[in-house]
Amino acid sequence: MGVILQAEALCKFYGTGTQQVKAVNCVDLEIMQGEFVAIVGKSGSGKSTLLHMLGGLDRPTSGHVRIRGVDIYRPGEDARTVFRRRKIGFVFQAYNLVSSINVWENIVLPLGLDGKKIDEPYVEELIDTLGLRERLYHLPCALSGGQQQRVAIARALVTRPDIVFADEPTGNLDSRTSDEVVTLLKASAQKFGQTLVIITHDEDIAQMADRTILLEDGEVVRL
Ligand SMILES: Nc1ncnc2c1ncn2[C@@H]1O[C@H](COP(=O)(O)OP(=O)(O)O)[C@@H](O)[C@H]1O
Ligand SMILES: [Mg+2]
Repeated sequence: MGVILQAEALCKFYGTGTQQVKAVNCVDLEIMQGEFVAIVGKSGSGKSTLLHMLGGLDRPTSGHVRIRGVDIYRPGEDARTVFRRRKIGFVFQAYNLVSSINVWENIVLPLGLDGKKIDEPYVEELIDTLGLRERLYHLPCALSGGQQQRVAIARALVTRPDIVFADEPTGNLDSRTSDEVVTLLKASAQKFGQTLVIITHDEDIAQMADRTILLEDGEVVRL
């Protein structure tokens, strides 16, 4: 298995002069295809900023992000949007489901945005893997937090991304539900050969990862 994701001298600075915040300060890292990596560190250590840059959501001040050797900040903004939708899935702490449409419609939404056909067998398998079969025609408001996050995970995986990024995906869930959700996320990623990068505060979840990257003041202190 090769390197899928690479950061080289990656920096994000906010402000200037004495007010400058080095949110991410010269980070180098490599993540292998199929790997499950947990990013940990105190609040304010730069985890979200790093994840957003790795996922194509936020342009670095300097440095490079390469996915399969391609610098994702080279092409223009539009190219990056398309690239992101096809190759990368995101899961956030707030589930960000569309409240007016049902579970099935939320899950397949990214396919519509991308003008792609629904691969029914794959979507069905995803639904079963995440235990959402009984809830397909419910609105998000009729679901528990754990169920809503599982819908958000299905939505992130529906485009068959190579890499799934999750920023504290269990931040709003109790510890038992957190373990359950991450176990399902890990199982799906393994089943479909996806690379998983999760920011977490939860020691149990970090334990499930193949490797932990520790950030302190914008710098990697353990790879
Ligand atoms: N848009 C922004 N403008 C100014 N400072 C920011 C911005 N986003 C993040 N920061 C600062 O960068 C640092 C890292 O933030 P963040 O990546 O959100 O940390 P974490 O996710 O580890 O809690 C913090 O000091 C934060 O205040
Ligand atoms: Mg954060």
